[in-house]
Amino acid sequence: MSPKCSRRDFIKTGAGVGVAALIGGGKGLIGQSPAVLPQSAGVMRVVASGNGIRATEKAMDLMAKGTDLLDAVIAGVNIVEDDPNDMSVGYGGLPNEEGEVELDASVMYGPTHTSGAVAALKFIKNPSKVAKLVMDRTEHCLLVGEGALKFALAHGFKKEDLLTDRAREIWLRWKENLSDKDNWLPPKSEKLPAEVRQAIMTYGTINCIAIDTKGNLAGVTTTSGLSWKLAGRVGDSPIIGAGLYVDNNVGAAGSTGLGEANIMNCGSFQVVNFMAQGHSPEQACLKALAQISNKTKLTPRRLNAEGLPSFGLTFYALNKKGEYGSANMWGGSRYAVHDGQKNELKQGAYIYQAKR
Ligand code: GLY
Repeated sequence: MSPKCSRRDFIKTGAGVGVAALIGGGKGLIGQSPAVLPQSAGVMRVVASGNGIRATEKAMDLMAKGTDLLDAVIAGVNIVEDDPNDMSVGYGGLPNEEGEVELDASVMYGPTHTSGAVAALKFIKNPSKVAKLVMDRTEHCLLVGEGALKFALAHGFKKEDLLTDRAREIWLRWKENLSDKDNWLPPKSEKLPAEVRQAIMTYGTINCIAIDTKGNLAGVTTTSGLSWKLAGRVGDSPIIGAGLYVDNNVGAAGSTGLGEANIMNCGSFQVVNFMAQGHSPEQACLKALAQISNKTKLTPRRLNAEGLPSFGLTFYALNKKGEYGSANMWGGSRYAVHDGQKNELKQGAYIYQAKR
């Protein structure tokens, strides 16, 4: 007999129920407050990062027509994955240092408390769809690299070149301007284009989370990750608890920004944890960021001249009541919300404000 306890055995024996009762004890995630937040019946909300205003529109439209909420948010982010002009996600995303586009994505479904994810996936422009298949059609939570690609091909996805000419040009200028002691030379007459300067190090992503009329929650996070990353680098987006977390009794949270800072602090799990303790979604995002800011003091290379985090990181949160919020490490970020009536961008809260 296998020494491992498979998921089926675990559920069948009921071992999970006993363990959950011991840990939870009917209290909040850390024993402070009710673990089940009251639900506002009939509320539908979709929340996304600022680049997700088309995703919230699409997801709400599908949910209103009866599509399951996870399929709805995935269809929403697919618009951005397919868009060559969004250089932080899917097709057209900025590549790794070798000029290859590698994508990360995760999904999580509240009603079953299940998740799926892929990381460092090449040639498939909708990693969020593959993540959903990992959840639905495997015993696993995360597939990476070559294995993730084989899995996607087995399910009929087609290999595509994800590197657009625009993304390749920006990568090439970055490479040519890295050093004046190597053999790569930029065109003589050309000043460094603004979009190359801005793209020196980017870590855009799209996160989209939703609640339906039954009070069920789900979410998706998808990205091309940090531009010019080392081949094989995996960010926070496909890491459950970091780039995405859903607890159907409490709420959902996701992130965009520097994945490394988030992974080490399990940021999205912390946001949900703070909501379970009774904090509003916005307060929960701020508290998670404050924790991360505090821990970053131990990593001087991630601090600016004033000793503050030098990176961007944003959390998005939605609770069981349909309340929502977002906060960024640095002021200025907006996020998308569809409240069932209006679809609009809202200003997020923040920890620090840049001096003008
Ligand atoms: N948050 C996206 C990344 O760091 O890859």
